[in-house]
Amino acid sequence: MDDYLRTNLLNWDDRAALHATDTTGSYRIDRVLAGGSSLHALEASEIGDITGKDIVHLQCHIGLDTLSLKHLGARSVTGLDFSPIAITAARDFAEKAVTEATFVEASVYDAAAALGHRTYDIVFVTWGAIHWLPDIFRWAEVVSSLLRPGGRLYLLDGHPQMYQYEGVDGRLSLTHSWRTPAHAPLLFTETHTYTGDERPLTHQRMYEWLHPISHTVNALLKAGLTLDFLNEHEILTWRHYPGMIETGEDQFELGPGYPRIPLSFSIGASKP
Ligand SMILES: C[S@@+](CC[C@H](N)C(=O)[O-])C[C@H]1O[C@@H](n2cnc3c(N)ncnc32)[C@H](O)[C@@H]1O
Repeated sequence: MDDYLRTNLLNWDDRAALHATDTTGSYRIDRVLAGGSSLHALEASEIGDITGKDIVHLQCHIGLDTLSLKHLGARSVTGLDFSPIAITAARDFAEKAVTEATFVEASVYDAAAALGHRTYDIVFVTWGAIHWLPDIFRWAEVVSSLLRPGGRLYLLDGHPQMYQYEGVDGRLSLTHSWRTPAHAPLLFTETHTYTGDERPLTHQRMYEWLHPISHTVNALLKAGLTLDFLNEHEILTWRHYPGMIETGEDQFELGPGYPRIPLSFSIGASKP
């Protein structure tokens, strides 16, 4: 693991500890422990039939969506994340929810070996995932290697165009270039995590990479997958800019007066 990912790991360990003891309601912990689902309306409407499927959830964080997929009818669920604190929390939630799930600590780039070269019906990746990864082409190869023939990827994440803007004085200010070279990531410093938790982060630095949609699509095609759909959405599940308005449960849109830009995107892709 290089220095960029090591820095991100420290930041994510901090966040995982805060999120596992979340009192803001952002993570829907009680709902999942009661056998319910933390999936938002958007991914629940797009993921398709998961009944009886073997699912691997990459960058599963504290495992609540992973457990939700099992509660929604998956045959088996496996979550993978590089944060040991996130994985420990996920296992703890699985035990409390009495839900069968496997959680594996590994970098996405080591997923195939860490999962014993097992293959799955669905690779599930959502909200705040691929911009932590320097190389989207290597990521797509990992996704492809985890899918059995006929299997599919469901990806839903923040739109790279959205991440180019910062909110400055009530306006969207075009700040970052549309693509980030692997060797020159964007550096951000945040004192607090995004849930509204007042407890500060100890490790506040993090590195991110913007991947144009064309790179993500081409990476998946190059890795041997076929594209089932590519959707762009005007909603997010967090208040990314101060002027955003809540239009549903944990669903946010740009308020009146803001030009509309795509805030998130989703991809379905299949392995022939
Ligand atoms: C915003 S969270 C994803 C949230 C997730 N959608 C969920 O179900 O809660 C991002 C996660 O990516 C993980 N992560 C970041 N870089 C990673 C890497 N290289 N390999 C594995 N996990 C990584 C972090 O530890 C963190 O748990």
